[in-house]
Amino acid sequence: MTTSVLTPQSQSDLDASIQAKITSMIDDLVDSLPDPKQLTSEERRGIIARYSAVLEGNFIYWMTAAYLAVQAEEARPHLIENLYEEVRDAHPAMLRRFAIAAHAFPGDADAFAVNEDLTKVRVFLGRLSGVQSLVTMAFFEGFIQRFMGYLAELATAQGSTDMEYTDVHGICDIAHTQGLFEALSAEMAINPLDPADDLYEGVYLLRALLQTIVFGNANKLEN
Ligand SMILES: [Fe+2]
Repeated sequence: MTTSVLTPQSQSDLDASIQAKITSMIDDLVDSLPDPKQLTSEERRGIIARYSAVLEGNFIYWMTAAYLAVQAEEARPHLIENLYEEVRDAHPAMLRRFAIAAHAFPGDADAFAVNEDLTKVRVFLGRLSGVQSLVTMAFFEGFIQRFMGYLAELATAQGSTDMEYTDVHGICDIAHTQGLFEALSAEMAINPLDPADDLYEGVYLLRALLQTIVFGNANKLEN
């Protein structure tokens, strides 16, 4: 493995280019979301149910995996702060209430629809690669924040008025996403990725999972 020492300027250029790429991938994904008014009630229910099937049981698990993967001490407080909020405010319970109120609590078909893509992300994060895990979670947080208005619109169309989950996550994830980019920068400085590895490997796997949440098993974007 070769490690290159980055000057502060080249480090900040690299940080900016990674952040720009992640932002652009999130923009593309958000732009691809189908118009809620064009969806059937069952299609709207399916998106909420698959989202819930993935997020309720995996978000804290994956943030914990990222925590276990990082070596930079300065990276840890960002992850701990995120986990602390998740646990203290019982975000999985909040999401479950959201799904139930929208009559979209996931059933076995919803869980099976995401199973293959979900498993790939789980196995990937189990490799405990600090830099790749952080960039994956930064993409995840950034997307979630941008997705909340859309998710709320789906739930409203399903007759729900319980928007605590989408209200909370549209706000707090902005700071969390920035924190994850700062953690990524710290991790890259002391535990850089092997140049042979793809920085975005986990991001691509997670994007495929998010596309399956939105579209079922069709219409995936190319890399
Ligand atoms: Fe949360």
